[in-house]
This record gives sequence, structure tokens and C-alpha cells, in this order.
Amino acid sequence: MPANQHLKNADLIEPLASLDEWEEDLLKRYPDPSAIAQDKGTEEFRNYTEPPRDTVKEFYRLNHKFQTYDYVVQKKNDFLQFNKKEMPIWNAFDFLNELVDDSDPDTDLDQMQHLLQTSEAIRNDGHPDWMVLVGLIHDMGKVLCLFGEPQWGVVGDTFPVGCAYSDKIVFPEFFADNPDYEDKVYSTKYGVYEPNCGLDKVHMSWGHDEYVYHMMKDYIPEGGLYMLRYHSFYAQHREHAYDHLMNDHDREMFKWVKLFNPYDLYSKNPNQKSWEELKPYYQELVAKYLPATIKF
Ligand SMILES: [Fe+2]
Ligand SMILES: [Fe+2]
Repeated sequence: MPANQHLKNADLIEPLASLDEWEEDLLKRYPDPSAIAQDKGTEEFRNYTEPPRDTVKEFYRLNHKFQTYDYVVQKKNDFLQFNKKEMPIWNAFDFLNELVDDSDPDTDLDQMQHLLQTSEAIRNDGHPDWMVLVGLIHDMGKVLCLFGEPQWGVVGDTFPVGCAYSDKIVFPEFFADNPDYEDKVYSTKYGVYEPNCGLDKVHMSWGHDEYVYHMMKDYIPEGGLYMLRYHSFYAQHREHAYDHLMNDHDREMFKWVKLFNPYDLYSKNPNQKSWEELKPYYQELVAKYLPATIKF
């Protein structure tokens, strides 16, 4: 049975013209690039006055309504078996590029370009090669969309489930429609967790971050795994809303998440080298860390 069968058709409406609309909205919320070298001035990202598009708002309404504890556990049980597909990472990038939506005039980059922009900005700043690899693969989990998952189950800010939803999460009012919101246990500060239990014990809302983390966890150093797993956890890495669930090790490792975030958000470089030029370097990098094929 398809995992989404319990949802009514109307609940599966895809409000975003493309997944990039969520990321464009992030730039409006967090317009301030921390120190990151780039050709583009920061002014181009500043836009405080324009309200979020209705599509983005509708996207969060669905995301906050349906990302329950049970939904997350169910998705993990399904997708973390990695029995959907097996392919070389290069085929996965081609697969991902099928997500391009030409009808969105703001989306001038395909998914692969965003990944390369991120990884090249990291490489240019002289960070370790495994972090360059993380830049290249951090959004690979968006292939979930191509397995039929709804947008609100693939992208969007992530947050813990099984405990109270923070009002620091974007559009917190939409959590009132989530059945966990009034649950005796899930609505409490710690919910099913212990104080400072560590994020590894915490279920995060389901999406491309958690998925790619599990896909890569045997291959990449821990700092990189934190970047993959928590790169959309804005309520923590920008707003510090869940310190009470983190342990000292998480706090240490979040330095990597914070280091990574500006590269994800602000590394659009109009003078990007062509893929043909970059290919030999990335082929060698991928071969150094990853097996010939990856299970999805
Ligand atoms: Fe992402
Ligand atoms: Fe990204």
C-alpha cells in the first residue's frame, strides 16, 4: 500500500511551483550571509518587505499539519530500508534534475547547479574535501519527490516531532491543525524525550535531510553527517529553539552545521565553472568516499 494512501487527495496538493520556492523564501527570512566569499553583493538577497508567496504559506500549512510523530516513524520504516532503487551517484543527479520546473521564472538553476555552486564555494574556501562532497550531495534526498512523496514531506524547515513544536519555527500557528498539537505527551516541552538526551535520539520531521543522512552515514566523517542531517533545522541552527534536547556533543558538532549553512543559502555564483571543467575533480572525490552505486 502506498504510504500516502491514508491522506485525502486534496491533502496532497503540491503548492510550490518548484522545490526551490522554499529555498528562495529562506533567503528572505535569513538574508544575511555570514562571512562567505562570493562574487555577488548581499543586497540582491535583501527583501524584508515582500510577504511570503501564498504558495509558500500553503506549503507550510500542509507541512505543519501532516508532519506528526506517527508519520515520521512510518516514513522511516519505509524509506530507510533503501529498497527502492540502486544507482551510481551520477545517475541520481540526472534523476534529481527531472525536478526542474520551467514554469517558475525565478528558478534559473537546476538542482545539479545548486549542488555544484555549494560544493565549489566550499572548495574555494579551502575546507576539507569531505565537506566539498557534502556540498555536492546535501540535497540528493530530494529524489523522494520522484518516488511520489509530497513536497511537504521532502523539503521545508525541519523540527523535532514527539515533543512541543517551537514557536520559533516558521508559521507556528499552523501546528494547531496537527493532531500531535493537543496530544497529552507530544505537546509537552520534552514529549517522549529526556532533557538533553541528544539529537540522535530525537525524531526529526521527515524529509530530504534525514533521508540523505542515513544514505551516507557509513561513508562521511561525523561533522559532514551533521551537516546533511540538520541543514534545514533552522529553528535550532539559527534560532536555538531546541537547546533543551541537545547534548554537549551536538553543540560541538553544530559548529559544522553553522559553517555549512551560508554555503547552502548564499553561494549563487554567476561565474560558475562548467561541469565539463569540474568533472574530473568530482569524479575522483566521489570515488574516494562513496561506493560505485548507492541504494535509495
Ligand atoms: Fe536541502
Ligand atoms: Fe541546498
